Amino acid sequence: MRAMAKKESQPERVVAGEPQDGDLLVDTSLRPKRLGEYINQQKVKDNIAISIEAARQRGEPLDHVLLYGPPGLGKTTLAYIIAAEMQVSIRVTSGPAIERIGDLAAVLTSLQPGDVLFIDEIHRLSRVVEEFLYPALEESAIDWVTGKGPGARSIRLAIKPFTLIGATTRYAMMSPPLRDRFGGVYRLDFHDVDALSQIIRRSASILGVPVDAAGTTAIAQRARGTPRVANRLLRRVRDYAQVKADGAITAAVAAEALARLEIDELGLDSVDERVLRTIIEKFEGGPVGLETIAASISEDADTIMDVYEPYLLQLGFIQRTPRGRQATRRAYEHLGIAPRAGAPAPQRALWE
Ligand SMILES: Nc1ncnc2c1ncn2[C@@H]1O[C@H](COP(=O)(O)OP(=O)(O)OP(=O)(O)O)[C@@H](O)[C@H]1O
Ligand SMILES: [Mg+2]
Repeated sequence: MRAMAKKESQPERVVAGEPQDGDLLVDTSLRPKRLGEYINQQKVKDNIAISIEAARQRGEPLDHVLLYGPPGLGKTTLAYIIAAEMQVSIRVTSGPAIERIGDLAAVLTSLQPGDVLFIDEIHRLSRVVEEFLYPALEESAIDWVTGKGPGARSIRLAIKPFTLIGATTRYAMMSPPLRDRFGGVYRLDFHDVDALSQIIRRSASILGVPVDAAGTTAIAQRARGTPRVANRLLRRVRDYAQVKADGAITAAVAAEALARLEIDELGLDSVDERVLRTIIEKFEGGPVGLETIAASISEDADTIMDVYEPYLLQLGFIQRTPRGRQATRRAYEHLGIAPRAGAPAPQRALWE
């Protein structure tokens, strides 16, 4: 997958929302299994609980569900939870993994009634595969073409009704006809420090790590609103506590450990700082186009948009304008630079 391929050329960022090698095992062991264990995202949980209850009462499959939001916020976790709550099996694949229609046909014809098909990075499905999916979603049928040229014939095959759960970090890149086919569309939001603290407490107790309340908060404040980052920081701080202290995580131990990893008190690292400094120092605070920022820090624009920008927007450090990205006063203040006269006051940015 794209995120995986990137890592070859770049050092791993401790605060990246994307999964890293060491996360895989821990992601699975710390992953909540039922809706009741899934912390925060209350509105999303409530709506999903109602849909699940209604579908189960009617004895029907759940409506197709689309989950979107920045990496590491719990989309995959929620897909597994939905399948568990519906008491059905889940098949997991991803947009880029489905290269040919035949691959998808094989999966679709093997599903049992009500099963969940989870397609991660669904915005990366090819157009042809996407169109093949439509009758499956709406009419529980696939149109299979046999033969070639003038002799080609399309036959319609029935499949079992199933639930598609799609996940994406890029809602805007999905084709409107695909979006329209989901009955439930949910945006996952960044978590606040309270919710992250709960997640850290839960993970610490599963991992058997002693951490006090102030230590929990210190980690939560640097976790960029993202559960995967919170869990990763917890593990790094645990290592530090074990080697440099008596194993227990206090606020001082957490702060020291994370300062060593060059993560500041808001969870920003050197790459975030470079993005901000580029806008402020090279482009007079913006507005400056994403491609231009990307070129000046030798990153690609997609990575900036998926990985760095959402949290900077969330903090109100940058804002999007039709002419590009602009640094707000808050960003200047954070870096200790005197704000330029025209720098905008921060606005709450909606993640999209
Ligand atoms: N609400 C939550 N409560 C507790 N833990 C959570 C919650 N959401 C996510 N997590 C934890 O965060 C980790 C990452 O979650 P998950 O893999 O579901 O993210 P994702 O949104 O699918 O990310 P990606 O976009 O990279 O696929 C999981 O291991 C899980 O333990
Ligand atoms: Mg995922």
